[in-house]
Amino acid sequence: MLEKLRIDKLLSHAGYGTRSEIKKAVKAGRVFIDGVKVKDSGIIVQPNIQIITFDEEQVHYKSTIYLMLNKPQGVISATEDGRERTVIDLLSDEDNLLSPFPVGRLDKDTTGLLLLTNDGQLAHELLSPKKHVDKTYEALVLGEVNESDKIAFEQGVTLDDGYVTKPAHLVIFEGSQSDEGPCTRIQLTITEGKFHQVKRMFLAVGKQVVTLTRLSMGPLHLDTNLPLGKYRELTDHEVKLLKQHRGTGK
Ligand code: URA
Repeated sequence: MLEKLRIDKLLSHAGYGTRSEIKKAVKAGRVFIDGVKVKDSGIIVQPNIQIITFDEEQVHYKSTIYLMLNKPQGVISATEDGRERTVIDLLSDEDNLLSPFPVGRLDKDTTGLLLLTNDGQLAHELLSPKKHVDKTYEALVLGEVNESDKIAFEQGVTLDDGYVTKPAHLVIFEGSQSDEGPCTRIQLTITEGKFHQVKRMFLAVGKQVVTLTRLSMGPLHLDTNLPLGKYRELTDHEVKLLKQHRGTGK
């Protein structure tokens, strides 16, 4: 993969300061690409093939990107689509330069935590059925959700295609109201990622999910400060937790 990105973005990712600090450093003549002094902090650089120096020291750049998106309704979890808006359309051009992709899928009408990265190995391991990564969802379910549903989900329910789900943990909160009538607010933690799994699990017990939000995936929790449709980079700590979770500790 031949990466391209702005020199100020690269340097700020690499820990050389904020964008405005880097702009000043560029103006002061401290940054070079292949031995040529950089004049514009917005210049696009190819770190795989160009040598970047800051104060005469070579910059070692990490080319991976990890983003947490609070997915809104109405966009699909894909990198491109002929007709629909995708989660990639929500990213800035600069962040798209590193070609992140969504780790797994949320339905078009599901909101909440979606990890986007270009770290294929991490994505593969987080999605591997063998790893049993927990995913917790919050939902409004039409009608009353009760203890017998909780027991059914602990034991496994049979989906419309005959698949029996792995044990899942249901927490039942207070009753609520939706446009479609009285509802129950719940949280469900599953360790699998079958197509429409949460909705189909409720259908298996004769109930309908009205709204669905993902709150967490393994050790990664949706940042409650992120408005719908917004995203941020994961902190180093969050990346570390995710990598440890897949068992390599890298
Ligand atoms: N389960 C669903 O039914 N939909 C999602 O988007 C995620 C989990």
